[in-house]
Amino acid sequence: MRVVNFGSLNIDYVYRVDHFVQPGETMSAQSLQIQCGGKGLNQSVALARAGVETWHAGRIGPEGRFLKETLDRAGVHTRFVEETAGSTGHAIIQVDSTGQNSILLHDGANGRLTPDFVTAVLDQFSAGDTVLLQNETSCVEEIIRQAARRGMRTAMNAAPANEKLEGLPLEALSWLLVNEVEGAFLAGTEAPEAILDTLAARYPETTVVLTLGEQGAAAARGTQRARVPARETAVVDTTAAGDTFTGYFLRRALEGGTLEEALSLAAAASALAVSRPGAADAVPGYEEVLRTL
Ligand code: RIB
Repeated sequence: MRVVNFGSLNIDYVYRVDHFVQPGETMSAQSLQIQCGGKGLNQSVALARAGVETWHAGRIGPEGRFLKETLDRAGVHTRFVEETAGSTGHAIIQVDSTGQNSILLHDGANGRLTPDFVTAVLDQFSAGDTVLLQNETSCVEEIIRQAARRGMRTAMNAAPANEKLEGLPLEALSWLLVNEVEGAFLAGTEAPEAILDTLAARYPETTVVLTLGEQGAAAARGTQRARVPARETAVVDTTAAGDTFTGYFLRRALEGGTLEEALSLAAAASALAVSRPGAADAVPGYEEVLRTL
């Protein structure tokens, strides 16, 4: 199980607030924490903590060196994390009193991935390996097309939902993971069953995974369907819940588990992640997740 993750690396500025700041409002935050984040980094940490041999490929600026060190400490291979001139990606995250978040992104070095970089990284892998990506870096289409040409399996967490998703060759993916917002954006419909039916019909060779927050998670491949409920937990911070889910889902899927098994493991891991503050810091370890099943 070797995974190379072309992933964003962000410095997260996390502000605890009573409510999200409103248009025209000036408000003081209750606290500020500066943490490691980025959907890509969080997903690499989740994969590594789930026991998958993981390489992270991405770019940072000089002030983001601690992000690479965090990946190192988590056991992620970082020889493809490159330092470039210019700023590191960052996120301004408000977390309200119910644990929900609101995120403003600045791409920084995540927007400086180039086709040559993608080629140089993928040259180090082969058809039996898996590529993971999200929608927070440049070169998303290039990564999907190159991975497909090389016969590699590809998983994409299509987050965040924005116009960059339009026109991507998503039919080339082995796994497409979305939440309700991303699923509705891609499918053009809102009911969970309709999202799954639409995307499974449009991408018949792809396993489509839909996370539904308190409603659990569901998956579809062709006419096959699976669904698991959410696990009961006290929500502290939902940041990186989807990233944790992605890493743990892939772990079980890559070792040949059924859709139900992969969804159950992922749901248990993300329930632990939301019960604690932070993004990468909140991702649980594999044994801890197994103990809750
Ligand atoms: O999914 C959570 C992540 O989204 C945060 O860590 C933030 O950096 C944004 O990328």
